[in-house]
Amino acid sequence: MSLKGRNQGVAPVTYGEGSRPPRGDYTRAHADYTCEQAWSEYTPSDHDTYRRLYTRQTQQLSGLACEEFIAAVQQLGAPEHIPHFDAISERLVKATGWQIVGVPGLIPEEAFFSLLAARKFPVTDWIRKPEEFDYVVEPDVFHDLFGHVPLLFNPVFADYMQAYGAGGMKASHLDACELLARLYWYTVEFGLIATPAGLRAYGAGILSSSGELRYSIRNRTPKRIAFDLKRLMRTKYKIDSYQASYFVIDSFAQLFEATAPDFTPVYREVRDRIAHGGEIDAGAVLPGERTFN
Ligand code: PHE
Ligand code: CO
Repeated sequence: MSLKGRNQGVAPVTYGEGSRPPRGDYTRAHADYTCEQAWSEYTPSDHDTYRRLYTRQTQQLSGLACEEFIAAVQQLGAPEHIPHFDAISERLVKATGWQIVGVPGLIPEEAFFSLLAARKFPVTDWIRKPEEFDYVVEPDVFHDLFGHVPLLFNPVFADYMQAYGAGGMKASHLDACELLARLYWYTVEFGLIATPAGLRAYGAGILSSSGELRYSIRNRTPKRIAFDLKRLMRTKYKIDSYQASYFVIDSFAQLFEATAPDFTPVYREVRDRIAHGGEIDAGAVLPGERTFN
C-alpha cells in the first residue's frame, strides 16, 4: 500500500522536556503536516468546552487585551460551536491573505516555518478535555484559534508572522532556531504592547489563558522590559509557569522594523555575548534597563 503524500506516522518534535508522544493522530496528516479539520468528530461536550472557554476569555479582554485583538476576535464567528476553519479562512484571506490550516498537533520546526512563510497558520484541530479546562500542556484548538488567529487580521502583524516563517527557514541553516524561538516566545506567545491607555497583551499564550491574562498586566511580580531584540534572544523562558519577564513593544510597526534586518550578524553577536556573559535568567533586570510597572 502506498503512503505517498502522507507522513508515515513521523512524530513531530515535542517542545519542552520529556519524551511524551504528542497527542494528535499524525497518520491523518499530509506530507506538509496539515490535515482536514475533523469537524464532524467533535462531540457536544467538545463544543461546550469551546463555548465556555470563549465566553470566559472574551469577558475579561477589556482593559487587558490590545484593541486590535478585541476588534478582530469576532471574526472567529459565534462561540456556540468550534468554528469551521474554512469559514474563518475565507474572511482572513480577504483581510490579509492568510489562511488557517488544520494540523494534528505540534509539528516539526521546518514544517511550521514553511507554512508561516506561505501565509498559512497551522491550527490544532482537537480540543482539551473538560478536566483540562484551565490548563492544557499542548496547544489545542482553543489556544491556536482564539490566541493566534485574531491578530492575523492585522496587516502589520500578519506580515511579521510571514517574515518570522521565512526567518525560521534561514535560522535552521544557521543553527539558530533556539535564539529565534525566544523571539517567538516573547512576542507571538507572551508579548505585551504599550498603549496610551496602559499595557495590553497581544501574545497568544497570554490571551488564551484566563489566569495569565490578568497576571501579565496587573500583577506586581513579573518584570516588564522594553523590547530589545538582542537582549531578548539572550533571555531564557519558563514553560511550566507564568512568565517571570515580559517584553513590551510600542507598536507592531516597531516589532516589524526591529526584526526586518538580516539576522545572520545578530545571531553571531548574540552567541558571542552568551559565550562571554552567559544567558539572562527570566525575571532578571539588567542595570539601566527600561521597565514598565
Ligand atoms: N530578519 C529576519 C532574518 O533575517 C527574519 C525575521 C523576521 C525573523 C521577523 C523573525 C521575525 O532572519
Ligand atoms: Co501558540
